[in-house]
Amino acid sequence: MAQILVTGGTGTLGVPTVDALRRDGHSVRVLSRSAGHDRVTDDLTTGRGLDEALEGIETVVHLATTGGQNDERQAINLIAAAERAGIRHIVYISIVGVDRIPLPYYVTKLRVEERIAASAVPHTILRATQFHDLVTMIFAYQKRLPWIFVPRFGAQPIAAPEVAERLAELAGRKPAGRVADIGGPEKLSAEQMARQWKAAAHSPKRVVSIRLPGKIVEALRDRRNMVPGPGYGKQTYSEYLAERYS
Ligand SMILES: NC(=O)c1ccc[n+]([C@@H]2O[C@H](COP(=O)([O-])OP(=O)(O)OC[C@H]3O[C@@H](n4cnc5c(N)ncnc54)[C@H](OP(=O)(O)O)[C@@H]3O)[C@@H](O)[C@H]2O)c1
Repeated sequence: MAQILVTGGTGTLGVPTVDALRRDGHSVRVLSRSAGHDRVTDDLTTGRGLDEALEGIETVVHLATTGGQNDERQAINLIAAAERAGIRHIVYISIVGVDRIPLPYYVTKLRVEERIAASAVPHTILRATQFHDLVTMIFAYQKRLPWIFVPRFGAQPIAAPEVAERLAELAGRKPAGRVADIGGPEKLSAEQMARQWKAAAHSPKRVVSIRLPGKIVEALRDRRNMVPGPGYGKQTYSEYLAERYS
């Protein structure tokens, strides 16, 4: 069993990942900008307290994100501190298609992957598809709009706790480099997901499909955000919605 530091351990993916690691018997410390039980307080963008945060740590599970803005700076700080501390394994969560979809956030995630892979710290990188929570947030955010607007591409949403289980499994093993991508059990159009959300959330609004131009949309329409073959995740989007809105 290892001493593990989880960055982003307070987030959507972080909370179930910390739970899964503890269930597996690991000793887990969470790095967060705010204080709390079993937490070390630090801002990864400055990296000032990182040396202390990594004392006695063997494995780092790096999940923290700023939505792209400071992710590369944070990775630079974390990698430098991990190298100084002699960290034995860094596990990084990335996104399916970061090398094939020119979204600025994805370009940053790819750069972070490359920095981790080029570092002296042995690593494992897992790419996952969008979480059910993110898809839902996109629909829920439109609450001030008259309709639910959906683009003409789809996704393969996955339950964050299932990604968390896989991360815990990987963190408990030897560094493996880039491992197989994971996605949810179904490939759904945005319109299908919006209709499922509308029913679950009892939204009276119409679902309106819109055509968007550009290379990013082209890549998404080309299903570069999905994993070929059968899905890894078990929970469907409608099962997640039933649980969330019950
Ligand atoms: N959402 C998706 O659909 C999806 C799909 C595939 C992969 N991923 C990846 O999964 C990871 C987690 O995503 P998520 O949706 O769980 O994110 P989230 O809920 O937005 O959580 C972000 C986390 O980052 C931490 N953080 C932000 N700025 C920080 C800073 N300056 N210093 C230290 N910690 C900081 C936050 O901690 P505090 O606020 O406590 O400081 C929080 O725990 C990301 O790397 C993301 O790219 C997400």
